[in-house]
Amino acid sequence: MIAARLDRARRYLASAGLDALLVMRAENRRYVTGFTGSAGLALVTARDALLAVDFRYYEQAAAEAPACEVLRGGSDPAAALAEAVRSRDLRRIGFESEFVPYAQVERLREKLGPAELVPMGDVDRLRWVKDAGEIAALERAAGISDAAFARILEVLRPGMTERDAALELEVAMRRGGAERLSFESVLASGPRSALPHGRATARVMEAGDLVTLDFGAVYDGYGSDCTRTVVLGSPDDRQRRLYEVVLEAQRRALDALRPGVPCRDVDAAARSVIASAGFGDAFGHALGHGIGLDVHEGPPLSPRNEAPLEPGMVLTVEPGIYLPGWGGVRIEDDVVVTEDGCRILTRARKDLIALPA
Ligand code: GLY
Ligand code: MN
Ligand code: MN
Repeated sequence: MIAARLDRARRYLASAGLDALLVMRAENRRYVTGFTGSAGLALVTARDALLAVDFRYYEQAAAEAPACEVLRGGSDPAAALAEAVRSRDLRRIGFESEFVPYAQVERLREKLGPAELVPMGDVDRLRWVKDAGEIAALERAAGISDAAFARILEVLRPGMTERDAALELEVAMRRGGAERLSFESVLASGPRSALPHGRATARVMEAGDLVTLDFGAVYDGYGSDCTRTVVLGSPDDRQRRLYEVVLEAQRRALDALRPGVPCRDVDAAARSVIASAGFGDAFGHALGHGIGLDVHEGPPLSPRNEAPLEPGMVLTVEPGIYLPGWGGVRIEDDVVVTEDGCRILTRARKDLIALPA
């Protein structure tokens, strides 16, 4: 598994004309080495892989990253790495320019000189296509959030605060096996459901409210990302109508998802349903994004992304309509691109759920 990922990183550095790739972003570092610590510098060369860590991580790095030569860097892992760079005569070293702060790049330039540090904006792309182990972890994560949603349906009622409901949801995910939450949960009710990322507040929910819940569980490093919108009591005609439009938009996008299709065409499949229903301006975000070790990663399912889908990519599909002062509806699933279409990982109910009021 790590061997295949190192191969992928080596193909990347060869195609970019680099002698080595310096990997510092936690998700990328974990991906190429297996090391889950919070700090460290990984360096992939054509021949070997190094991992320079500080005192806190000597043992953990050796245990988690057996494919790497672990450099014990004391309080200055970059200095340990610099020595290895010089002894190997590495001259062009790519780094994650979208991630490493400018000041840190300056410090690294001083330490690693005379090697040239080459900014690379697309290192995260290595993680776009998932392997079988990653897909299995994402499926487990989705199962945990699905079960938590089933639990919240039993307790979500008028009179409860958004915060209490979010806590129930989060406890259910932790009890169900989540090692942490994928992100701070969104739980927004009534007019607040028009906020795409509305955090739970002390608002007391009322009969007639739409409630948007956007939540995810992390399993073995990989996070799910699921949204459902429910109604407290009987939905009115407008709530029903909006729900139908969003669900149809999602269905059309899921039908369009298959290898070779440009990401933007999938976005367009959903967007055209919402636009022809008259709500084009009320769907202001991209249709979805990749998920994996990071909850927001590539490829974006956005109107601007021409990259074609490939088998093994795992993405969210999350159309929404948001009407300020009234409320909003979003439905979000996680899917894996297969050889001839896609498979949905999140299986929580998707019909318009009317909870007892
Ligand atoms: N939960 C954040 C998102 O859906 O993108
Ligand atoms: Mn979400
Ligand atoms: Mn999402």
